[in-house]
Amino acid sequence: MSTQKIIVAIDGFSSCGKSTMAKQLASQIGYNYIDTGAMYRAVSLYCQQEGLMDENEINAVELEKRISSISIQFKLNAQGTSDTYLNGVNVENAIRTIETGLGASRVSELKFVRKALVEQQQAMGKEKGIVMDGRDIGTVVFPRAELKIFVTASPEVRAQRRFDELKAKGETVSFQEVLDTTIERDSRDMNRAESPLKQATDAIVLDNSHINMEEQQKWLCDAFTNCIEKLHGN
Ligand code: C5P
Repeated sequence: MSTQKIIVAIDGFSSCGKSTMAKQLASQIGYNYIDTGAMYRAVSLYCQQEGLMDENEINAVELEKRISSISIQFKLNAQGTSDTYLNGVNVENAIRTIETGLGASRVSELKFVRKALVEQQQAMGKEKGIVMDGRDIGTVVFPRAELKIFVTASPEVRAQRRFDELKAKGETVSFQEVLDTTIERDSRDMNRAESPLKQATDAIVLDNSHINMEEQQKWLCDAFTNCIEKLHGN
């Protein structure tokens, strides 16, 4: 296969398994995986820790002053996957809670937050050879990405997956609570003024409500191979 590297942009709704499929593809094809949701989650955690966000509002004036000094990095761990660091501290587990996810969808509505994170994401993809997942990768971050995938599944299927994950981690939540936050995040992601979640016109859609992980991974690998072949005119 060619050594010409491309950008793979994977966008879609929350909890539809984007990161799992993106991570697996990246490791199969030897690309870097970048989880942009983790970056919004890290900003959300920062706001929670610093008292800049409560149930009703975000102190956007103070956050804007500090945004350029918030450092978010990804570092490989002993298992070979990457952990998220916020100002030098490993926050990989702390950012995965339901509250931080909901907070992430709130901070992601702020224009200056998106601008700061999008710039970092574009810098990470400068050399190509990346699989990046998020909500606006194929539309805003890399509108010229060679391969764009838009992943979707029904809210109930996604909430069930998220519920199983949270239960396995020992979190005490009800299915209804998870379904409600899934629907709330969908609505916030689709209706915000700044870079709302939408399918790029040239994205390939994958509805994974009723396919298993192996079928999904094969579908994605085939999409990647077809894209590379097309680029080479085969
Ligand atoms: O993907 P994940 O669920 O971890 O993302 C958390 C939240 O961050 C999303 O609900 C979305 O509001 C926001 N996000 C975003 N743009 C991205 C990635 C995530 O607005 N590229």
